[in-house]
Amino acid sequence: ISLKPFNTFGIDVSAKHFVSVSNIDGLKAVLALKEYPDKLILGGGSNMLLTKDQDKLVIHINLKGITIVSQDEDFVIVKANAGENWHEFVLWCMAHDFGGIENLSLIPGNVGTAPIQNIGAYGVELKDIFVSCDSLSLDSLETCTFSKTDCQFGYRDSIFKQHGKNKYVVTSVTFRLTKRNHLLHVNYGTISSELESLNITNPTIQDISKAVISIRESKLPNPKVIGNSGSFFKNPIIPKNQYKTLLLNFPDVPSYPVSEDSVKVPAGWLIEKAGFKGKRFGDYGVHKNQALVLVNYGQATGSDILKLAKLIQITILRIFNISIEAEVNIL
Ligand code: EPU
Repeated sequence: ISLKPFNTFGIDVSAKHFVSVSNIDGLKAVLALKEYPDKLILGGGSNMLLTKDQDKLVIHINLKGITIVSQDEDFVIVKANAGENWHEFVLWCMAHDFGGIENLSLIPGNVGTAPIQNIGAYGVELKDIFVSCDSLSLDSLETCTFSKTDCQFGYRDSIFKQHGKNKYVVTSVTFRLTKRNHLLHVNYGTISSELESLNITNPTIQDISKAVISIRESKLPNPKVIGNSGSFFKNPIIPKNQYKTLLLNFPDVPSYPVSEDSVKVPAGWLIEKAGFKGKRFGDYGVHKNQALVLVNYGQATGSDILKLAKLIQITILRIFNISIEAEVNIL
């Protein structure tokens, strides 16, 4: 079958063997199939670039359901199954007035993939509301629960991208959200000016969600219209000394503090400065409003996009002496 509807880049590769699972027992049964030793776990398909037809058994995680585990006056513990669409889950939380997750509105993908790369936006990361996640071990088929500490979250990073890579399928994620006295994060990026332009002075979590949606819609292409995978690269973290040298040649290069001796530089700025923003090559290119996003205008192949990504990487290295790393998984 074609995997085009299952990846937000809209790349048309095929899977020889494909199965969609909607309950844990079904998932266990499929994982146990000995005739397919190689398996590819597919969640929302929002963080991958498919460059070839897949011989592996592709397992689409379609586990649905959201439950309130417990609550008191201040907090609620909510468990969502891995196949729930992330943004629909955020909207469910907004409808219930559960806070902490509003800055993460409109991030593509599913609940189950959120912990893999510790999704983050506008000053909030998944780890800030994360309690634990359940997973199945691909080897033993046993259920393993990972606490926040177990997950070793970092910037776009977790144990599932390090030594737990390709060893577990996340089946559900448990969150701790606020029911009152919501802690609002409005100081990051353009949220406060967006709220101002909407004439909102005392924002609710729903107002923040709306502001984030409107910022994202203005900058990021809708994958249903133009194929993309959000940020293609991570923002590079460089030593402060190197940043000082960089400033001599490029006095306007922005940065975010990371630690005593390192800073994060927006890759989007580097890519724009290198002249790639809005560049189109046939059916693929760099988005016109956000240079960190590579796009498929229709019939691009994964190799086309990969070729462009490599060209961008070597150009950035040549001009700025900075290596930028793909955030997206190349398969
Ligand atoms: N910039 C440019 N040109 C561009 C894009 C960005 O100069 O074309 C510079 C500007 O100076 C801007 C700065 O980069 O002020 C930051 O841009 P933006 O706020 O758009 O954020 P980002 O650093 O490019 C990160 C995340 C996004 C997340 C936003 C908002 C990564 C890799 N990306 O992007 O996450 O939505 O912050 O918090 O950390 C994603 O992971 O898929 C994603 C979209």
